[in-house]
Amino acid sequence: MRYLVAGGAGFIGSNFIRCLLDSDVEILNFDKLTYAGNLLNLADIEKNKNYTFVKGDICDRKTLKKVFNKFKPDVVVNFAAESHVDRSILDADEFIKTNIAGTHNLLKLSLEYGIDKFVQVSTDEVYGSLGKKGFFTEDTPLNPRNPYSASKASADVLVKSYSVTHGLPVVIGRCGNNYGPYQFPEKLIPLTILHCMKEGKIPVYGDGLNIRDWIHVLDHCRALDAIIQKGKTGEVYNIGAKQEMKNIDVVKSIISEVAKKVPEKKISERQICFVEDRKGHDRRYATDPSKIIKTLKWKPKISFKEGLCETVDWYLENPSWVKSVFNKSYMRYYKANYSKRKVIA
Ligand code: NAD
Ligand code: DAU
Repeated sequence: MRYLVAGGAGFIGSNFIRCLLDSDVEILNFDKLTYAGNLLNLADIEKNKNYTFVKGDICDRKTLKKVFNKFKPDVVVNFAAESHVDRSILDADEFIKTNIAGTHNLLKLSLEYGIDKFVQVSTDEVYGSLGKKGFFTEDTPLNPRNPYSASKASADVLVKSYSVTHGLPVVIGRCGNNYGPYQFPEKLIPLTILHCMKEGKIPVYGDGLNIRDWIHVLDHCRALDAIIQKGKTGEVYNIGAKQEMKNIDVVKSIISEVAKKVPEKKISERQICFVEDRKGHDRRYATDPSKIIKTLKWKPKISFKEGLCETVDWYLENPSWVKSVFNKSYMRYYKANYSKRKVIA
């Protein structure tokens, strides 16, 4: 089988490629290498005979067409996206282009060339924000509340429309918050690990009581594999590990884990700094994964405790990767997002 993986140089895409290369698939990774795309994420497998990398933009239909023509994929898996909510609040232009128009290019070419399966990697954020009770099911109405999630919901609706209108064999996976190795430090977990190491302030938005539903990236990758193998055309599958946590508790767990592993540094909860909230900050995400568990026989294997311990180890053991992502462009973004936020406590 030949898989065209769009956005495979990012966090989840690179973990997915590494997982799948052990099986009998040929993979072409098509990635623009934005600030979030990093070929170091795949350095260990770049010479694998079943793996090819092509640098390209999913918004560039001409180049994408050449790739479809030459590689002739059986399966298309779309990870390519602008993925960070805070950046979409600063400026949503690239989100609209890549997440919507780019996805449309992939759909159009998948239809033109004929494929066996199109997998859209989506998010639980498309459902909006929950109150204290309840879970997102696949029937929860779409109610995205920030430009990132609105662009992802738009893509989901387009993907679905290609199934209904044109009979394209599509499947959508909607996953909660991923963590694990190779995650870009703009996201809460790597940001907190790295700020612990630098003995700097750890910014927590608002009261820190927002809840996210965490899943280890490898559990997500295994779920996507199950969807490719057994997912029913036209269906949506929620992916989650039922590991809801308040942000402040996530941050405290990380502080305690890093402090344990690096006792020579002054790492403590005193580093926590409550800052002005994210605009439109969704209060709670919680996913009901019963459908994928029952129908595709997938289940998550990695507990948050175990996954966090391994993730902290990975960041501590990979200083050259960390150095490569803490570059000038990241510092510019960091300043734009954090420097004007008022400190609350
Ligand atoms: P990421 O930001 O780490 O990686 C995105 C990748 O897409 C990068 O390699 C980037 O270079 C590439 N890319 C961006 N624009 C492109 C374009 N125009 N053409 C080609 N490549 C392009 O993101 P991630 O966290 O790995 O997320 C991957 C996908 O999973 C996204 O679609 C995201 O919405 C979805 N998702 C993420 C999470 C999460 O917690 N990170 C959870 C659920 C769903
Ligand atoms: O739920 C799935 C989504 O999870 C994915 O679709 C997104 O691509 C992914 O980025 C993630 O979105 P979040 O906005 O939930 O992730 P982030 O790591 O940015 O934030 C997690 C929580 O932590 C959120 O409530 C905001 C808060 N936060 C985040 C940062 C960066 C802070 O309190 N301080 C911070 O500095």
